[in-house]
Amino acid sequence: MEFWKKLLLNFRPIKLRRFLGSLFYPMKRDLLERRFLLSQQVFAEIGNIFKAETIPGGAKFYFEKVELEICFLAADFVRVNWQPGVEPIPYAMAGQDWPEIKVEFQSMRDRWIITSPALRVIVNIDGSLTWQNHQSEIIREELPPQLKTAGWLHQAKLRPEERIYGLGERAAPLNLRTPQSYLMWNYDAGGKYGIGTDPLYLCIPLYMGLHESGSYLIFYENSYKATFSFNGFAAADFEGGALRYYFSIGSPAQLLDRYTQLTGRPALPPRWVLGYHQSRWGYETEQAVREVAEGFKTHNLPLSAIHLDIDCQEGFRAFTIDPDRFPKLTDFNQELVERGVHLIAIVNPGVKADRRSELFEEGRSQEVFCKSTNGKLIIAPVWPGLCAFPDFTNPQARHWWSRQYEYLLDLGFTGFWHDMNEPGIFVLWGDPSLPPHSTRHFLEGRGGNHLEAHNVYGLLQAEAAYEALKEYKPEHRPFIVSRAGWAGLQRYAWTWTGDIETSWSGLRVTITTVLNLGLSGIPYSGADIGGFKGDPSAELYLRWFQMSCFLPFFRTHSANNVKPRTPWSFGEPTLSIAREFLWLRDRLIPYLYTLTWETNQTGHPLVRPLFWADSNNPQLWDVEDAFYLGDALLVAPIVEEGATSRSIILPQGHWYHFWDNALLAGGNQIDIAAPIEQIPVFIKAGSVLPMTENQQLVLHIYPPVTGVGGGRVYSDAGDGYGAWRLDEFYLQRHDNSLQLTWRKQGNYPFPDQKVQLYFHGLNVQKVWVDTQEVPCQNNHLELEQFHQISYQLLAED
Ligand code: GLC
Repeated sequence: MEFWKKLLLNFRPIKLRRFLGSLFYPMKRDLLERRFLLSQQVFAEIGNIFKAETIPGGAKFYFEKVELEICFLAADFVRVNWQPGVEPIPYAMAGQDWPEIKVEFQSMRDRWIITSPALRVIVNIDGSLTWQNHQSEIIREELPPQLKTAGWLHQAKLRPEERIYGLGERAAPLNLRTPQSYLMWNYDAGGKYGIGTDPLYLCIPLYMGLHESGSYLIFYENSYKATFSFNGFAAADFEGGALRYYFSIGSPAQLLDRYTQLTGRPALPPRWVLGYHQSRWGYETEQAVREVAEGFKTHNLPLSAIHLDIDCQEGFRAFTIDPDRFPKLTDFNQELVERGVHLIAIVNPGVKADRRSELFEEGRSQEVFCKSTNGKLIIAPVWPGLCAFPDFTNPQARHWWSRQYEYLLDLGFTGFWHDMNEPGIFVLWGDPSLPPHSTRHFLEGRGGNHLEAHNVYGLLQAEAAYEALKEYKPEHRPFIVSRAGWAGLQRYAWTWTGDIETSWSGLRVTITTVLNLGLSGIPYSGADIGGFKGDPSAELYLRWFQMSCFLPFFRTHSANNVKPRTPWSFGEPTLSIAREFLWLRDRLIPYLYTLTWETNQTGHPLVRPLFWADSNNPQLWDVEDAFYLGDALLVAPIVEEGATSRSIILPQGHWYHFWDNALLAGGNQIDIAAPIEQIPVFIKAGSVLPMTENQQLVLHIYPPVTGVGGGRVYSDAGDGYGAWRLDEFYLQRHDNSLQLTWRKQGNYPFPDQKVQLYFHGLNVQKVWVDTQEVPCQNNHLELEQFHQISYQLLAED
């Protein structure tokens, strides 16, 4: 009786239609796909080399059945191309020109050797490849690849101690060398996922190998569906395309630098996005949003953005706003922006297939939607009901799509949240996306199927949005958050880790997901604080919140059927502690903003694994419950229920405890207290940490124990593409004297009239600014601009 009553009360026609759609669509999909399923993969041997010749920067090899081209793009960076197979469309590429590299070519009886000053590749007669560093140490040994009916299988030996990282977004351990295999197929995890779920929304066919002789990176420029595994061998099994990959050796930092030179540096975001974002699926009215914004104000909580989910739309349709429920959005937006709060609108790619919809009719007449091999539109169910899907591999479709953002920009939205763009589709069984073989894509005129286009779908949607924002708002930097993506997404968008479950293991796995995304070239990510579906305890919410304070994307989001989740939803002491962390985040913005500039220059992720700067130390290879934020901060979140302390291996060097300035020696495992109002955070000795205090820039100086250190501050208007400046601070310590030297670049004015410096860890006895002695009270100085400061420190007892 209860059951029927509940069912009746919950009955909504839209839900029934969605249910029927998700029943009939997969039936149709399976029918369309049936004729493609019969072909069996046959493996072919590639034969032996019968001819080799040099080409600029490399060499070309002719095998009995295949061809291989090896080309050095830089002394430590090589492109390898095995043919036959469909050549990739350069969607991942940043379009950089690589100057020709001089290499040495040696031809032996059964092998050929190409050498640059940094790297040597040995091509054996059977097609196996050996990569060596300049000391002739073997870095990687590749087996002869195998050509399949469609695609290639590529394998390499793994050393016993070898670790593997990357692959885009994974809910897996940090070291991906597990018995499971990893699918390259962007995937809607369907409302809730936990550790071990694979694949997720944003796959990248890239990995970093790390072993005793060094580290390397391999990126496959192949967007086809593929399976990767790292058991005895590293295997990459592609369902189509040529086997084209890029190989580099060097430290993790050098590898990311090279990879993002190839696929593009992360775009510089506007400064405001580094603040806190509040979101929820369920802000159904303007009034509800207003109450959230008011709540932040009355509770004295800084807020940068509120995200509007599909509830703000008319019938969940993209590029619509319900005028009854959001009647004065332009004025409201204006009011919010004046208070420093930005509204972000969700945009899903599915366009409701409804003859009354202008968007649908326009798209249909311009032929921008995906069609199947039978020439008919592919129609599948998502939130609005049955939808058509723009073919973003068609430049005309991208252009048409990009024009739609103007409407939302005019309403005052300043950022966009791309969801369901794998594309995700509702199905009762099978793959929740478009039919892989029977969906035709334009692919820049060359044509192809969804097996090839699927993984680049979200990337190209982000490109369309990015271009639109640059065109319509040239004075602002675009802010786009995209759930799906591929190699190169960093050029356009941020991401978040989707519908992670509400659990302690969900909190824990967020760290490895964010770290592996960063090692895959995606530096901006974060998770729904507290998990997507479910109600976290106050403790879980708070621990997640505290960790996220140190992640690039600091956002709370949740499903529509959970309790409200704001800092004040949990009462005290949660509210007061969350407030402390919100203000801490606000104070850290100069540091975070400098990191956005650094990643824009180098591709280095903001959040880094502990082995980042010390990859020779195997003790750090598997640390997956702590991370660096930039060079200066080490964060060790609390990821266990009830824990009020934890242990951590501090990397070599010295570290200051953030909360009490205690100096700790690295190279050891230590136990550290973490009462509910704190998580352990350490500052590397020898750092200059820029923060704001009372709206003024303050340089926090954490002296090196001996030797050198430093830090820098990047400043500009916080948005747009105008003047900038870079202030670099160098520290040099000798016994009890410390020198701080300031070097400036750029012509943006220094943010404040005076410079505030705060000295940590030791007491200052005397200070000279340039040559003049000045008073220093409580380790604090307020100065005019200077060239050099000399501190005399009080010797420790
Ligand atoms: C998807 C998204 C989630 C969003 C929901 C409704 O599940 O991952 O963030 O709230 O759709 O739009």
